[in-house]
Amino acid sequence: MNIQELSKKYAQYVVDMRREFHMNPEISMHEERTARRIAEELKKMGIPCKSIAGTGVLGIIKGNHEGKTIALRADIDALEITEKNDVEYKSQTDGVMHACGHDCHAAMLLGAAAILNEIKDEIKGTVKLMFQPGEEVAQGAKKMIEEGALDGVDEVFGMHVMGHLPAGKIAIGEGARMASADSFKITVKGIGGHGSMPNLAVDALLAASAIVMNLQSIASREVSPMDTVVVSVGKLISGTRFNIIADEAVMEGTTRCFSYEVRDKLPEMMKRIAESTAATYRAKAELEYNLLTAPTINNKESTVRAEKSIEKIMSRDAVIEMPKMAGAEDFSEYLEKVPGTFALVGTANEAKNTCYANHHPNFDVDEDMLHCGSALYAQYAADYLNEAEN
Ligand code: NI
Repeated sequence: MNIQELSKKYAQYVVDMRREFHMNPEISMHEERTARRIAEELKKMGIPCKSIAGTGVLGIIKGNHEGKTIALRADIDALEITEKNDVEYKSQTDGVMHACGHDCHAAMLLGAAAILNEIKDEIKGTVKLMFQPGEEVAQGAKKMIEEGALDGVDEVFGMHVMGHLPAGKIAIGEGARMASADSFKITVKGIGGHGSMPNLAVDALLAASAIVMNLQSIASREVSPMDTVVVSVGKLISGTRFNIIADEAVMEGTTRCFSYEVRDKLPEMMKRIAESTAATYRAKAELEYNLLTAPTINNKESTVRAEKSIEKIMSRDAVIEMPKMAGAEDFSEYLEKVPGTFALVGTANEAKNTCYANHHPNFDVDEDMLHCGSALYAQYAADYLNEAEN
């Protein structure tokens, strides 16, 4: 049996696992039950695995011949959303729901594990199965890497189900496809005083307002018009009373961009603008910058390989161009370290009422796509390992 046929053999298993995970969602970094069930399933298949990154699971399938190592990744966490779907597999946990489809990813990777385990005699090299916790809080991938998940790994592959892409299609694309998402906090210090005598005070609120405005010159004047960057201040707190000059202002915001270079430069640019703008008003500013998620940049060769793998398990027509998205994905952490690509599995099907966007309380998927996901994980791994030169 080839991988496509094997994926059909395990299609019902994957749907059953997805429904089980869907009914029992767990929030980021607390995926205890999910991890336990994944480990149980892998053990049933005879695949060795260990716990990693708190509530993650790392399984290993060794082929019959020496070769390279590929890591397949599925994230497994759910979101704090109350499910509005009225389905038999509805979330049994109030206020928590698999509204981003990570239940599907976990099930698809279990399906792939079953397939790869069955054909391991034909595989040259090693497959690491990375069931990653905490994607939604941008902690899981970093923890997996810290604990050695990528050690000895030559290539990485991941997928995400998408409620706004049509079922029957899988989207791939080389280069920057998803944005970075970092956060910052700027604290402005002035000297308080009476609203009638601003000359005796240093107005932190005024300085902060100017900083909010000047930060916008990063997008318009500091970064090339060919690069996309967003600097958004979402929160600004200052002042206590109408006739008191504020002695402090605190703002918080987020940045997004699509290149490692721009991302590297942002903290320095923002620090300069914040400090010098504050100085213009005799105030002082301090920037705290938190690197959360890198941009997702797909390797070209890996993307070409994925296209061929999709053709084998589905058809040429199933391949569509991956749209560029301003959302972020912590799969990017792996891509910063090793080559690979991230694909999007379309799950929108009007007839099945699965056209809601990810994170919507009515999010659901066309489950007929799940075995395609399993097949693609397995086919990509087999194609990479069997083509790779040692
Ligand atoms: Ni997600």
